[in-house]
Amino acid sequence: MDLPTLNLVGPGRLGRSLARLWSDAGLVRIGAVLGRDPANTRTACAFIGAGTPYAPGETLPPAGLWLIATPDDVLADTARSLAAAGVLRPADIAFHCSGALASEVLAPLRAHGALLAGAHPLKSFADPASAITGFAGTFCGCEGDPAALAALGPLFDAIGARRFRVDPAHKILYHSAAVLACNHLVALMDAALRCMEGAGVERDTAWAALLPLVEGTVANIGRSGTAGALTGPVARGDRATVCAEINATGALDADIGAAYRVLSLLALRLAPAAAGLAREDVEAAC
Ligand SMILES: NC(=O)c1ccc[n+]([C@@H]2O[C@H](COP(=O)([O-])OP(=O)(O)OC[C@H]3O[C@@H](n4cnc5c(N)ncnc54)[C@H](OP(=O)(O)O)[C@@H]3O)[C@@H](O)[C@H]2O)c1
Repeated sequence: MDLPTLNLVGPGRLGRSLARLWSDAGLVRIGAVLGRDPANTRTACAFIGAGTPYAPGETLPPAGLWLIATPDDVLADTARSLAAAGVLRPADIAFHCSGALASEVLAPLRAHGALLAGAHPLKSFADPASAITGFAGTFCGCEGDPAALAALGPLFDAIGARRFRVDPAHKILYHSAAVLACNHLVALMDAALRCMEGAGVERDTAWAALLPLVEGTVANIGRSGTAGALTGPVARGDRATVCAEINATGALDADIGAAYRVLSLLALRLAPAAAGLAREDVEAAC
């Protein structure tokens, strides 16, 4: 059987991980691997176990599939460079994996008849070696040309992705959700740990104590929904406690205090009848 050829442009953490998964599964033949740093590109080919390293300016060989995995800020430039090089053919599929940008960022490639898509895995690829072993089950937000999505769907399904559709007009909001739930949870946990340390609890002990609280809370949201899972001073309407904690966290660090206040306002929306606690009470605390 003739395997489709995949050219990888931007062999970083995500690009090399997906290329390796598809290559190992025998779903694609890896063609060109284009990166700026020759050593990094060779390392990527070694990780994938296939592919030929290319440098910018070299003419890339043809491929039916083009994974454009350069950083979000340069995706448009990458598409313009590939379009100017004239290496894509009609009906080739060009796709990226950005969560924040729609597939239209690759629009210069339409001039050559390429079909465009975006497929964003809701997963961290910080360490490609562990990312590939844990990829199965990853949700992927997809949008783009129907024919491109139809061709990419089986590739993603075969490595265990769980695909769902995203409206390209709202990808920024979609990606904000992922940032809030993932990256900002990290920032929130760090703020909680710093408050514990401010109260004299050693960081390791604080983490050991907070972890079951976080895990239990996430499980409660799954069981009862966000409103049902909310407990604590806002849910109880303990006005004095909420105000004192806004002040105490603000004294430790003004940003943590501001975060506590804003999060209290969001929590209040989940508990509107919180024993008379009003938005103004939270806003007035200083
Ligand atoms: N990492 C994640 O966890 C993750 C998760 C979901 C989605 N994504 C998406 O995946 C895409 C890639 O992210 P990443 O984390 O894999 O990035 P990355 O690790 O920084 O890798 C980017 C790659 O692009 C190359 N590159 C950078 N600037 C370039 C330029 N101006 N021209 C050509 N190549 C360039 C780099 O090559 P050199 O090394 O040769 O400089 C590198 O191989 C992004 O759209 C991102 O939003 C990432």
